[in-house]
Amino acid sequence: MSLLSIETLDRERMERLFARTDEIASAQTRNSNTLSGLIIAMLFFQASTRTRLSFESAALRLGAQCIGFAEPGSARAGPGWKESVADTARMLNSYANASVIRHYERGAAAEYARHSMVPVVNAGDGCGMGAEHPTQAILDLYTIRHAFGEIDNRKVLLVGDLRQRTPHSLLKSLAKFSNVQVFLLQAEGYELSLTEFSQLRDRGLSVEVIEDYAAVIGDVDAIYLAGMEDPLEPSPPEHVLNEDVIARMRRDTIIMHPLPRGNELPSAIDQHVQAAYFRQASFGVPTRMAILESLFQ
Ligand code: CP
Repeated sequence: MSLLSIETLDRERMERLFARTDEIASAQTRNSNTLSGLIIAMLFFQASTRTRLSFESAALRLGAQCIGFAEPGSARAGPGWKESVADTARMLNSYANASVIRHYERGAAAEYARHSMVPVVNAGDGCGMGAEHPTQAILDLYTIRHAFGEIDNRKVLLVGDLRQRTPHSLLKSLAKFSNVQVFLLQAEGYELSLTEFSQLRDRGLSVEVIEDYAAVIGDVDAIYLAGMEDPLEPSPPEHVLNEDVIARMRRDTIIMHPLPRGNELPSAIDQHVQAAYFRQASFGVPTRMAILESLFQ
């Protein structure tokens, strides 16, 4: 079964992934042979450190072998030749048992999947409304569940450029849980669209826009810094997490970030007990092991 959008993952399947991730994590991601004999294609048309390498590590730990490319310029479908993702999928049908695809265009993973006869995982496609990074959302949710035991009843503050695929998928996934309250501290000009707002509210998610950290900082369970999509665009100074903000946080609040970080998350914050972003990134391996296994069940 493919994983293209967090929309198609119901709560039951998420809970099964979390339970399997628990088993894998408690075995300290020891290698197994559950995907022995399979080949997983890693097709990265856009830069990645965490997603690609944790997927490759996950596949190898499960006994699978990997093929693919991390430098799109080396593939015919890259910027030079621009072979279509449809034709790429048609080729990969006979080369691999599953494909993991990251692409700079929104909808590219779904287009690839339309021409794929093997399961496809969206490893992040595009930016803006409809863009998704579902496996990031799964590891984000797993991080919250790991810290608090459950996702229901949590209060989560999202900060930054919320048009990016990571906050999109996280917000949609939070809407699947009960009594979750979300606060948005948005970068001006980089806000969630009104359509997305109403979609989230229609799904029962409590969403409130706030103007500064002071409004909720002492009350939230998780602060999710999304950073800015454009690496040349710094986060607004009022979004930068500093010692004053930390001092007003609960000790059990977790600070999350999909990484790579920008100026919003100075390295001085790493020493604080609330810093959870490297733990969050480490969960990329066991969650993606559980995801890869689920493709073949
Ligand atoms: N969080 C994330 O998607 O990181 P990469 O771009 O390095 O994969």
